[in-house]
Amino acid sequence: MKLADRLERLGTETAFAVAATAADWLSKGNEVFPFHLGDLNLPTPANVSAAMHRAVAEGKTGYCPNAGIAPLRQALAESLGKQRKVNFMPENIAVQPGGKPVIGKFLRSVMNPGDEVLYPNPGFPIYESQIEFNDGVAVPYRYSDTPKGFRIDLDYLKSKISKKTRALVLNDQQNPLAAEMTDDERQALADLAIKHNLWVLADEAYYDIRYAGESKSVVSLPGMLERTVILYTFSKKFAMTGWRLGAAIGPKGIIDRISKLNTNEESCTAQFVQWAGVEAINGDQSGANELLRVLKTRRDATIAGLKKIPGVRVHTPDSAFYVFPEISETMARTGHADLADFALGALHNSGMSFCTRRHFGRPLPGEQGNYIRLAYSGVNNDEIERGLSRLADWVSSK
Ligand SMILES: Cc1ncc(COP(=O)(O)O)c(C=O)c1O
Repeated sequence: MKLADRLERLGTETAFAVAATAADWLSKGNEVFPFHLGDLNLPTPANVSAAMHRAVAEGKTGYCPNAGIAPLRQALAESLGKQRKVNFMPENIAVQPGGKPVIGKFLRSVMNPGDEVLYPNPGFPIYESQIEFNDGVAVPYRYSDTPKGFRIDLDYLKSKISKKTRALVLNDQQNPLAAEMTDDERQALADLAIKHNLWVLADEAYYDIRYAGESKSVVSLPGMLERTVILYTFSKKFAMTGWRLGAAIGPKGIIDRISKLNTNEESCTAQFVQWAGVEAINGDQSGANELLRVLKTRRDATIAGLKKIPGVRVHTPDSAFYVFPEISETMARTGHADLADFALGALHNSGMSFCTRRHFGRPLPGEQGNYIRLAYSGVNNDEIERGLSRLADWVSSK
């Protein structure tokens, strides 16, 4: 029996394949330090879980409005509007089962077959997958590795804009680079979006995961509110990855279309999960604050451990929970010419499991450097120290 052709264009998150290799190594009796998956091994705040139990006990278990329950839309409108210094109303919010569904629903709402969409590469692999699956043309833009961190290559991005460009995907507090835009970069991107009349998907999954400074959003810049859809998620800030709760926030016209897609695809997001979301936003924030405190200690331990490994070059990010070190010299030292071989060698010789650049979009022609991504959200400080010191020992022994 034949299957649909479009499935050939559907990508995946290959990080899950790394998890399978790590699980196999673990099952053979080896210790594994899991730096591969952007999940958290920290609990959802107790007041949030309690709110979900209360909602179930109160019988809030049936269908609910497609765009989300009114108190959650209200809470998100107020909270996100205040942070980003713009005016959102509940009608600007479509609640989703996670942040991820916003990507495909945004694309299906703005893109016709053959339209081009600019997206970050390296970047979250679902952008590339969803653009192509929905009959669009995925046009990657790239970053430069500068002494001050990763910066969007604006000239390159500009050179890729054509008459067919329909949308621009931005991911500040970026996965996997943990890169952030400077004010000038953000303004330049807004200017381009306005000049070329582009829709913008602002993936702000890590907006609230930050250790210093202040997150800013492209939506706050003049002329952007009417063309931007924000991807919001409860997954990271409140350690709720498995709950599946997020939202699309944008102009009413597109939010109505996205809500119609909700009606067609899942009817609604689980009602009792949404009540937990109301508590997460409006209730006591000590759980979320504690989470950030712990993540910061992990970031510091990860950077300290990486700096002891010969040949590693790494930036210290102020946000998200990833680091993206350059390891060409380390690879040469251990006799590996290929990133995937090095990753396997590291797993077998130190138990360190991580993704490489190749898990974050198809590499661009002529790309320089060899990079890996470590996620420190799912490993405790003791594991970080032991795992990285074993990696250092292996590399040093070569
Ligand atoms: C950049 C980015 N966007 C969106 C998501 C989606 O997260 P979720 O669907 O759990 O909200 C992730 C998850 O890792 C991410 O890294």
